[in-house]
Amino acid sequence: MISAEAPSNIALIKYMGKLPAQTQDVNRPTNASLSYTLDHLRSRVEITKTQHQDSWSPLKKDSWLTLDLNYKGRDKFLNHFARLKNAFGIDGFYEVSSANNFPAGAGIASSASSFAALTLATYKLARSLKPDFDLSLAKLADFSRQGSGSSGRSLFSSYCLWDKEGFHQVGQKWPNLIHDLIVIDDQHKFIGSSDAHLLVANSSMFSGRVERAHLRLQELMQAFDSMNLEALTKICWDELWDMHTLFHTSNPAFMYMNENTLLALRIINQATRGVTGPIVTMDAGANIHLLYFPGQETLRKSITEKLQAFKLLQQKAVL
Ligand code: DP6
Repeated sequence: MISAEAPSNIALIKYMGKLPAQTQDVNRPTNASLSYTLDHLRSRVEITKTQHQDSWSPLKKDSWLTLDLNYKGRDKFLNHFARLKNAFGIDGFYEVSSANNFPAGAGIASSASSFAALTLATYKLARSLKPDFDLSLAKLADFSRQGSGSSGRSLFSSYCLWDKEGFHQVGQKWPNLIHDLIVIDDQHKFIGSSDAHLLVANSSMFSGRVERAHLRLQELMQAFDSMNLEALTKICWDELWDMHTLFHTSNPAFMYMNENTLLALRIINQATRGVTGPIVTMDAGANIHLLYFPGQETLRKSITEKLQAFKLLQQKAVL
């Protein structure tokens, strides 16, 4: 049995919008993105030899939570496995099982961590069969990208830049952050992020998006280098609204934010008036991610109290 684990990640500058697929090459972004790796939110994949055909099953193991993938999810996962087997020259059939250490109902997209774990486990399998088989982490991330774009970023910690040249670790001197998730909606998304990528291209506000994301990325990296926390929180706040505005103005328009998202955002906005807050960001969903900087324990406590009415998934760590 071969196993591998990988973490999830949250984008600060978002991958939203894809270039038209070139034959086999998929998931090429319209703009560069930058993420923070969530090392505590992980997926595990185990691969075992079997007789008949490749299959997926939920991994049942100690602290790992049993996962229930629907048919579409299984297909996407097994298609990626088939692509990797083909590229790495692996024959035969395998059972692939996977699990996350965070609840499926927490509204955290697990595709980044699970596709990254699948890519790493399949690479380990290839090496167990052909010890000379050797790929760089950047090359593996590029393979993972073909399964799910954002998963390539999960191979680098703590900050990963995904640009035209590929995936790279950045910001070795940038701080570790503490992650709290406000769980507004724990249901399956009605529009998956892969569909959102296609829909935003129809937004009347997509024009200029690539330039805005590019400029914000430059500003974000400078703000991290100079630890300008005020600028960091502002850039990430603007980026969250930029992406969600693309959803709201796409044709047809769609919305992940609901009244509770707005209520929580308003509470955070009021609680941080006049003080530097945590980074506030969102994925293609209704939930809100907070990333606190070192030294913000008191602020974290006070915001946590103000958010009492909400379900919070808090990273167990102190800054
Ligand atoms: C909103 O990586 O899930 O989370 O490449 O189609 O699998 P596919 O899309 P996916 O898109 C993630 C979009 C996002 C923003 C981000 O993570 O950058």
